[in-house]
Amino acid sequence: MDKVAMMIKARRLFKDICDLPTIPAIVSKVVALLDDQNSAPDEIADLMLVDQVLAARVIRVVNSPLYRTRNPILSVKRALMLIGFKSMREMILTSYFVEGFKKKEQPFDMKMFWIHSFSVGALSRYIGQLGGFPDLEKAHLVGIVLDIGKVFLGHYCKDEYGEMLETIKNTNCTTHEAEYEYFGTTHCEVGLCLAQRWHFPSEYCDIISHHHFSELATEDPFLTAIVSLADYYCLSRSTLEGIAQVGAPGRSEENAWRVLSEFAPDLTSVSLIRFLDDLDEVYGSVCKEVNLLFNTMTVT
Ligand SMILES: [Fe+2]
Repeated sequence: MDKVAMMIKARRLFKDICDLPTIPAIVSKVVALLDDQNSAPDEIADLMLVDQVLAARVIRVVNSPLYRTRNPILSVKRALMLIGFKSMREMILTSYFVEGFKKKEQPFDMKMFWIHSFSVGALSRYIGQLGGFPDLEKAHLVGIVLDIGKVFLGHYCKDEYGEMLETIKNTNCTTHEAEYEYFGTTHCEVGLCLAQRWHFPSEYCDIISHHHFSELATEDPFLTAIVSLADYYCLSRSTLEGIAQVGAPGRSEENAWRVLSEFAPDLTSVSLIRFLDDLDEVYGSVCKEVNLLFNTMTVT
């Protein structure tokens, strides 16, 4: 697969679309401030209050069962102090991602898609913790937004994408390979275009672009390895019939396992297959967390 040609095709798909979901400029500014640990909480809270939709959303989510607060949180600044910069950044980007595509028609079940995305996020956090990754909120967030290209292709190329999913049912063809056959590009390149349009930080863009070719990631190979393995696990274990298919672990997963082992040598005592099998034990509790997040983020 020629990455440059695939990027050209992906950009061409974007060219004529004028109703792309957007993230308001003010929200991008808030996220940039939250990325900087030296930012002043007052400055961030003031900026958040300029966007009433954002402020209301933050108050709603922080008072949901997800955060288990004892007393109601009524101010944005208190919400920020309570959950911290990193969790706030994660919550804001996740909610805009969900919101942006909520009402867009898809040829697949969006509920299953969200559940899958949130599962990859939760499992990325877990694998990150096992491997000693320093920013677990980032691992969680990148895991959630990994497949944004799929919702783009599903909506803007609905009929073709639906036909493609139908064609590969009960075959060994992976979704990634089928996308390449049908569109000359995949959800990775399309996801990169969308992530750039939304001004996601560059390492998120690199991971979205390379999560099925982890060996090509340059910005943060450790995080790429974590989310690639979480994604592979969730794809191989859950019943995502009609949305996605994977084969046996391939070069990308083997590379991710090697990179993870470099950063976390304790994990090397088992094989990749055994590591994936062991994740079955925690997957039940991950699913509980995912349901909570799903209900909180998708409430109207
Ligand atoms: Fe993917």
